[in-house]
Amino acid sequence: TLGTSLMFSCWWLFFPWYTCFSRLLSTAALAPQICVVGSGPAGFYTAQHLLKHHRLARVDIYEKLPVPFGLVRFGVAPDHPEVKNVINTFTQTAHSDRCAYYGNVTIGKDVMVKELQRAYHAVVLSYGAEDNRILGIPGENLSGVYSARAFVGWYNGLPENRDLKPDLSSETAVVLGQGNVALDVARVLLSPLDILRKTDITEGSLAAIACSKVKRVWLVGRRGPLQVAFTIKELREMINLPGTRPLLDPADFTGLGDVIKDIPRPRKRLTELMIKSAREKPGEKEAALWASATKEWGLKFQRSPLEVLPATDGKQARGIRMAVTRLEGSGESARAVPTGEVEELECGLILSSIGYRSLPLDSSIPFDPKLGIIPNSLGRVQGAPGLYCSGWVKRGPTGVIITTMNDSFDTAQSVLEDLQTGVLNLSNSKEGFKSVRSILHSRGVHPVTFSDWEKIDAAEVARGKLAGKPREKIVDPQEMLQLISH
Ligand SMILES: Cc1cc2nc3c(=O)[nH]c(=O)nc-3n(C[C@H](O)[C@H](O)[C@H](O)COP(=O)(O)OP(=O)(O)OC[C@H]3O[C@@H](n4cnc5c(N)ncnc54)[C@H](O)[C@@H]3O)c2cc1C
Ligand SMILES: *[C@@H]1O[C@H](CO)[C@@H](O)[C@H](O)[C@H]1NC(C)=O
Ligand SMILES: *[C@@H]1O[C@H](CO)[C@@H](O)[C@H](O)[C@H]1NC(C)=O
Ligand SMILES: *[C@@H]1O[C@H](CO)[C@@H](O)[C@H](O)[C@H]1NC(C)=O
Ligand SMILES: *[C@@H]1O[C@H](CO)[C@@H](O)[C@H](O)[C@H]1NC(C)=O
Repeated sequence: TLGTSLMFSCWWLFFPWYTCFSRLLSTAALAPQICVVGSGPAGFYTAQHLLKHHRLARVDIYEKLPVPFGLVRFGVAPDHPEVKNVINTFTQTAHSDRCAYYGNVTIGKDVMVKELQRAYHAVVLSYGAEDNRILGIPGENLSGVYSARAFVGWYNGLPENRDLKPDLSSETAVVLGQGNVALDVARVLLSPLDILRKTDITEGSLAAIACSKVKRVWLVGRRGPLQVAFTIKELREMINLPGTRPLLDPADFTGLGDVIKDIPRPRKRLTELMIKSAREKPGEKEAALWASATKEWGLKFQRSPLEVLPATDGKQARGIRMAVTRLEGSGESARAVPTGEVEELECGLILSSIGYRSLPLDSSIPFDPKLGIIPNSLGRVQGAPGLYCSGWVKRGPTGVIITTMNDSFDTAQSVLEDLQTGVLNLSNSKEGFKSVRSILHSRGVHPVTFSDWEKIDAAEVARGKLAGKPREKIVDPQEMLQLISH
């Protein structure tokens, strides 16, 4: 027993230290250097999955704006604070000692994708979607017409939209589109100030909305009730919005009862809620709420915008001309065809909410202009080994944050597989940020780090506290700069 205990206590004498050292050396060389482009949900969820499932991987996140989180900060409505809780998870990811954030760096301008590919073993494009398709109708550039994207950017403090100053002097607003973004916009226009005041909506937009004359919002769709794109939670929120009443035409919903028997459950429940609100006598509570309402909103179906009508000054919008449509086919694939009948609706504020769109980053990267996505299989960019994509630029601009999480995990999984199978060759050592830093330096670009962001964040939260809101966003990049240079 003395022998065995001696052997055990001296085990380290027999331990093959040399393999240990050599493994240590080779692992340093074998640490995959990965970067993601864009710090929205796609970027952060891809980084999270890679860091969690690869012990050695390093992930750098590049972001065009100084501040992180993409549409979680600049898209999600201010009265949906619970949606923004994902920021806590993203912050944990950013705190990993194998992760770094570089804001204020525009890929495709400050640094090219080709340069990233030279610096990293794998590059994941997750830069989302921005370009809002223009309406392409006469009068779309009149004053009083805005893209929902710009309007959302304005109330959420997106630097490029902070001077939008939308004209809210008209009683009637039209939102072109029937998705969740359209409902967000309608809700922000109609919400009681007491609700908005407690959110992280910017003080400038709150002040403008406080003076708003808008008291009626129409959400216009080219197709019918069975084709709306919003979801039930958001519709219910709208129906219960204090101070407002829904304007739903019972005639729009006749005969739908039979059709919805056989459709998928989420759409069935959504349609049932619309039918109930439009056709059934409201309960006592609702009736009282609606009777005292001073504002209203409604859905207009089977109307396709033809022209924005100018006021006598020729500059201001005074209304919209729409084609009445009929549906060809049924269900999700039904097409709206003009009947020849035309209708005009008076309104001084028009917001087009007809979808976001991704743009190609540079001509060297495959891009499908028709679908507005980077062609890929499971996140692997077609014909470009070492290049990946995730999020809206991979899938198109639809789906909630959870959808984006799922597809980002899939992309990360593809990267991990390619590391394992040797498709990504780790023997080519890559310098990662070290080489990008010298590129940035030579071009006079100064990245914002995550700890810089945390200074901005702290300042925003402190300012918000004084006003009784979660944060007061800083909308001026100059002001951000002052905060982080001290
Ligand atoms: C108005 C609106 C409201 C929404 N509300 C909800 C909601 O309530 N709940 C929900 O679950 N989902 C909501 N969504 C959907 C959700 O925001 C998206 O699913 C998700 O943000 C998509 O993630 P992403 O990372 O692909 O894109 P994004 O969030 O857009 O992130 C892309 C990032 O890349 C950056 N970037 C762009 N170009 C470059 C470049 N050249 N170089 C470096 N960086 C670049 C952008 O600045 C941005 O930060 C909403 C969407 C919108 C538009
Ligand atoms: C509106 O302005 C945009 C950008 O300036 C332009 O591309 C578009 O053609 C204009 N639309 C009309 C109808 O004039
Ligand atoms: C996400 O993926 C999980 C597991 O694969 C699945 O159960 C869930 O339905 C997906 N959610 C969405 C919104 O795609
Ligand atoms: C990986 O790169 C090294 C060094 O450039 C090279 O010798 C090796 O053949 C490559 N391996 C594969 C599988 O491509
Ligand atoms: C972002 O970079 C530009 C130069 O590319 C610089 O002028 C600006 O001050 C930077 N902004 C912040 C907030 O650091």
